[in-house]
Amino acid sequence: MSLRSQIIGCGAYLPRRVIPNDELAKTVDTTDEWIVQRTGISQRHVAADGELTSDLAFAAARDALRASGVQPESVDLLVLATTTPDHTFPATATKVQARLGMTGGAAFDVQAVCAGFIFALATADSFIKTGQAKTALVIGAETFSRLLNWKDRGTCVLFGDGAGAVVLRAHVGGGAAGRGVLSTHLHTDGRAYNMLYVDGGPSSTGTTGHVRMDGQGVFRHAVAKLASVVDEALAANSLNPGDVDWLVPHQANQRIIDGMARKLALGPEKVVSTVSRHANTSAASIPLALAEASGDGRLKPGQIVLMEAIGGGLAWGACLARW
Ligand code: UT7
Repeated sequence: MSLRSQIIGCGAYLPRRVIPNDELAKTVDTTDEWIVQRTGISQRHVAADGELTSDLAFAAARDALRASGVQPESVDLLVLATTTPDHTFPATATKVQARLGMTGGAAFDVQAVCAGFIFALATADSFIKTGQAKTALVIGAETFSRLLNWKDRGTCVLFGDGAGAVVLRAHVGGGAAGRGVLSTHLHTDGRAYNMLYVDGGPSSTGTTGHVRMDGQGVFRHAVAKLASVVDEALAANSLNPGDVDWLVPHQANQRIIDGMARKLALGPEKVVSTVSRHANTSAASIPLALAEASGDGRLKPGQIVLMEAIGGGLAWGACLARW
């Protein structure tokens, strides 16, 4: 019998401060109407001064441990997806490890921007499947507000801060009807490096820098590449779009989410969307959506959950799981 990673608990944390579109429209040339029509975003959460990515990650991880009834000492792997680490090094994951009271195992960061959670989940799933870890915490946490040029209306309206986490536990007995991660599928195409990037960094400018994006370019790639990786995930599991109970997509733009739902012929009642309230929280968006939909009872044991994401790199991926 093969090993499989089961998602046994979810957690979330959103900073207290909420910035509605109207408030942004006071400082940059935009309107609530434009932002809602083009993106579906109405507001975003923004971390307080001095509130760091590790603080957000810690709060979400603690919530996920509580939900799963797992003690921190029994976690033997922590993978933190983030683009906004507290410091250039060491890995922010190690700070979270210490705060949680997780004394053994390994903790490290994974960097795949908006696709970060899928990459971190795939990493932890591989460790579990190969017997290198039994209980893993996978966290997506971002203080993306720190990377924004608040005078650039093309980017500053799109992003928000937050963190989400899941606990994975190894269990024996996969099989077609078994619960847990069924498969993960990762891709990158570095030829599009400059389509969405931050114009700073320790090795280039020595500054943190700001987000730069060719929005239309990313949009075009998003629709095509997400459709392709979703096909790949379904085919790998001999499933059809009609078998998907829930689409839990990366939350960048409601128009991209609607496009994927249309492709899968899924009604809005089968799509978890948080983008209007959270905006794009990068690596945190999928685990935040999972925490919300599992917390309110939408995700039920045995259901097929499809996750997909794309972001800077370009990096994109998908995961199919039986909840
Ligand atoms: O997480 C993965 C990373 N990111 C994404 O997935 C983002 C993918 N791209 C998108 O979501 C969309 O391309 C955007 C939301 C970024 C932009 O929407 P769009 O429909 O592609 O708009 P656009 O870039 O074609 O801009 C249309 C117009 C432009 O004005 P002109 O040239 O037509 O006069 C922009 O200058 O809208 C203008 N504009 C704005 N107007 C008001 C751009 N940003 C704003 C704004 N408020 N915030």
